[in-house]
Amino acid sequence: MKIAVLMGGTSAERDVSLASGAGVVEGLRAAGHDVIPIDTARGYETLKGEDVKNISGIKAEPPSVEELQKYAGELSIEAVKSPDLRDVDVVFIILHGGSGEDGTIQALLDLVNIPYTGSGVLGSAIAMNKQMAKNIFIANEIPTPEFFVIDYEQNLSIDSVDKRIESSIGYPVMIKPNNQGSSVGLSFVKSKDELKRALDVGLQYDNRLLFEKYIKGREFTVSILGDEVLPLFEVIPESGLYDYEHKYTSGKTKYVCPVDLPADLQELINSLGMKAFKALDCTGFGRVDFRLSETNKPYCLEVNTLPGMTKTSLVPKAAKAAGIEFPQLLEKICGIAVDDYKRRRLKAGRKI
Ligand SMILES: Nc1ncnc2c1ncn2[C@@H]1O[C@H](COP(=O)(O)OP(=O)(O)O)[C@@H](O)[C@H]1O
Ligand SMILES: [Mg+2]
Repeated sequence: MKIAVLMGGTSAERDVSLASGAGVVEGLRAAGHDVIPIDTARGYETLKGEDVKNISGIKAEPPSVEELQKYAGELSIEAVKSPDLRDVDVVFIILHGGSGEDGTIQALLDLVNIPYTGSGVLGSAIAMNKQMAKNIFIANEIPTPEFFVIDYEQNLSIDSVDKRIESSIGYPVMIKPNNQGSSVGLSFVKSKDELKRALDVGLQYDNRLLFEKYIKGREFTVSILGDEVLPLFEVIPESGLYDYEHKYTSGKTKYVCPVDLPADLQELINSLGMKAFKALDCTGFGRVDFRLSETNKPYCLEVNTLPGMTKTSLVPKAAKAAGIEFPQLLEKICGIAVDDYKRRRLKAGRKI
């Protein structure tokens, strides 16, 4: 197949996407495909072999907001208009965060009728918006930690935010930008004195902050490939908090499979994972994050429509646990995308 890989981009997760992208390019080439890597932050200029090889590891910190502003967003449109994209069989989107994950790039590809991997416009948009996703979880009886949101425009005084926390979910609280991933801008807050710092950090990324009840307990993640659930993984960060550094520094987090949980509980988490994925209209592949309380109640945190895809990321690990090697996983994701595209075209009464 001829496959374009869209990677990099201009979100705070750019570095992670480049690392995922480099892995995807290598994996697809290893499977014998004709692969065109494109960094959407650079327009339609194709990445040369050495550019991909030179992608260094992910730093312990995400790139700064100023750093990202050096890249012009309009270049993403150029990337999608790239002449290289015209005759591809499928586009492998491995952009994390921002317009690559929120449905915008997906919409551009829909308009030009090019099949792409993963979720479509709607699923991508809802999954990126934690508040919307949680509302849909609740409507579908998928347990999710109690929460409220505050918009920056509402003029946040520390006292009023503290009161709102105390009178609802209580401390400790997780504070997250509503629209971010990779734990960027997220804080664990134990008391009022930590509030100001957490708000400042979160507001760097989004005007809307999500305040979520902290679920003390263990963490599990459900990887999904097509209509199948891959083996469940437990995630155990060294310091207890699964932040950016623990996600992307090798050795800082333990990933355990098979998990040490009774079969019925595993079954429950897996089925809630698939239910959450479908409830948000997600397709293709993805990953659903859970906390398991000390009383063994699972809480769904979020659905990731574009989870990390370096060889050591969770979905590839889960695929491997199911006997699916990395290049084969990538091929399956592409195959599902092409089949879905054909099905959608037929349903719409169009020629394939
Ligand atoms: N309500 C919560 N209770 C306990 N830990 C949480 C909670 N929310 C987030 N976390 C921790 O922070 C990590 C990132 O949060 P998540 O909601 O998955 O956002 P992201 O999109 O940044 O991955 C989780 O993997 C978990 O370790
Ligand atoms: Mg997560």
